[in-house]
Amino acid sequence: MKILGIDIGGSAIKGAPVDTKTGRLTAERFRIETPAVLAPAAMARTVAEVARHFRWRGRIGIGFPGVIQGSRILTSANLHPTFIGRDGAALFARATGGRVALVNDADAAGLAEMRFGAGRGVEGTTLLLTLGTGVGSVLFQGGALYPNTEFGHLPLRGRSAERSISAAARKRRGLHWREWGAELGDYLHRLEELLWPELIIIGGGVSSKSKKFFPYVKTRARLVPASFHNEAGIVGAALWAAEKK
Ligand code: BGC
Repeated sequence: MKILGIDIGGSAIKGAPVDTKTGRLTAERFRIETPAVLAPAAMARTVAEVARHFRWRGRIGIGFPGVIQGSRILTSANLHPTFIGRDGAALFARATGGRVALVNDADAAGLAEMRFGAGRGVEGTTLLLTLGTGVGSVLFQGGALYPNTEFGHLPLRGRSAERSISAAARKRRGLHWREWGAELGDYLHRLEELLWPELIIIGGGVSSKSKKFFPYVKTRARLVPASFHNEAGIVGAALWAAEKK
């Protein structure tokens, strides 16, 4: 089955058609840069532009960087605050004319990695973090997804951890890979004390540079980069839509 997967991020919207049987993109990814301040109507128009690029008529899976219950958006830490309370699936369905399923972006990335990537076949507790504009998290146990974990907002020195350990925070703070890696390690240590994962997967664009910072990140669990790097969100959003009846 082919489904259009779209990943809404803090700085860009990316999409591609996905073969949900193999997890492969069937066309080259299309990306539009977006300022985080885009209000829902403008964001919906941009999502529609992605669908139009592929002349898409079929189903669409969309990953959104916030807590999602059903099709409703409950939080929007790094995007426009007026997304909160909106029926996201209805908003994007109206704009694209397609049938839309909505999922948290990190949950989407996790689905892709567990099905086809770095977590394939792992039954024990697996924690995946996406490091980008924010920090997304997702937990799996026995291959099953526990939705909407928000470990990126665990307080660290009095504010959301994502303010200091996201990939964007590393750049903003001008940190060397070594310093940032050590801070990331301390944060993971706190999560390990609470969750005891056997595998930790690091996703987001920065996961393609894991050789630069993994040496400074000390964890008890096995630590691996995501196999899909930044494309996990696109693939996983399509998988989510494929499983929605
Ligand atoms: C949001 C999460 C999202 C993460 C990554 C956080 O700020 O609260 O829902 O998964 O950013 O985009």
